[in-house]
Amino acid sequence: MSDRKNILSCIQPTGEVHLGNYLGAIQNWVKLQEDYDCKYGVVDYHTMTMPYQAKKLRENTWKLIFELMACGVEADNLFIQSMIPEHQELCWIFSCVTSYGELQRMTQFKDKSQQLKAGSKSGYISAGLFMYPVLQAADILIYHADYVPVGKDQEQHLELSRNIAQRFNHQFGKEYFTHPEPLFTETPKVLSTADPSRKMSKSLGPKHYIALQADSQRVVKQIKSAVTDTGESSGTMSAGIQNLFTILKATGNSSDHAALLADYHAGNLQYSSLKEVVATSLDGFLAPIRERHAELMQDKKRVKDQIKQSSNEIRKVAQETMREVRELVGIQTVRPVR
Ligand code: TRP
Repeated sequence: MSDRKNILSCIQPTGEVHLGNYLGAIQNWVKLQEDYDCKYGVVDYHTMTMPYQAKKLRENTWKLIFELMACGVEADNLFIQSMIPEHQELCWIFSCVTSYGELQRMTQFKDKSQQLKAGSKSGYISAGLFMYPVLQAADILIYHADYVPVGKDQEQHLELSRNIAQRFNHQFGKEYFTHPEPLFTETPKVLSTADPSRKMSKSLGPKHYIALQADSQRVVKQIKSAVTDTGESSGTMSAGIQNLFTILKATGNSSDHAALLADYHAGNLQYSSLKEVVATSLDGFLAPIRERHAELMQDKKRVKDQIKQSSNEIRKVAQETMREVRELVGIQTVRPVR
């Protein structure tokens, strides 16, 4: 065991990965692997909390694994949540040290309940949706994570995880669970190319996001059709143009970024030439990820075996935690079956 700090983060398999996901989270996950012991989960049980299709979920879980690996997440650090049933077991135990009231205060629960009530997604509000943050706490605490790289929207869930750890430790008389801290890293905020007043997101529809696996033609087309003028007052840069500059900078093309920004300030930037440069730079930036993805897809079975293997290795940590937790909470101990 190394003395590096533990990092844990997870992502839901809800379809394709887009540029916003990559620049906002995954790129950072890849970097963190250099300095931390990282575990990254594809959390398929969480996806069951909103209306979904069983067949799609299984497909999307593997699709996300391939995409994450194409981005540079190491297979050894990856696991699929449902391959480690101990998460569920710990979730139950945590549900008994979580108050009903604090779950009712979770803003994500309120937002998603509203969506379901408004009927934009047909369905009822499940107990699973209510329990979502308890399962998230189990994901984190079962590996004794020190840091959890997440977006600001997950701050409340992280706070709940710390409360659960504290209540558990207090109730069972041992400083057993680590208090995990969120890791907020400055990442580029990428906006929808069709409506730059909103964050790039899949839920807005395919015109709004640039899929990481989009081919050259599509990337170019989407950048060229990006909305630039959104009716801001003159003198301030429109959100659409800002977004194109953000993307350009993220691709690492700093010389063109500086030159075009100077053009903008001199008042002679041509949107068409900005788009031209962004499209070419972005396409070049995404090409190696696309190539790596194609390679991995040539060898599907090997990749899947690798992930089953890594999930099994990571499961050993979860089983050890559960052995100790069972001891602490007064239920029967069982021998791990593998
Ligand atoms: N709720 C997180 C999100 O929507 C996903 C998630 C589930 C997660 N379990 C986690 C994130 C554990 C960090 C750690 O982004």
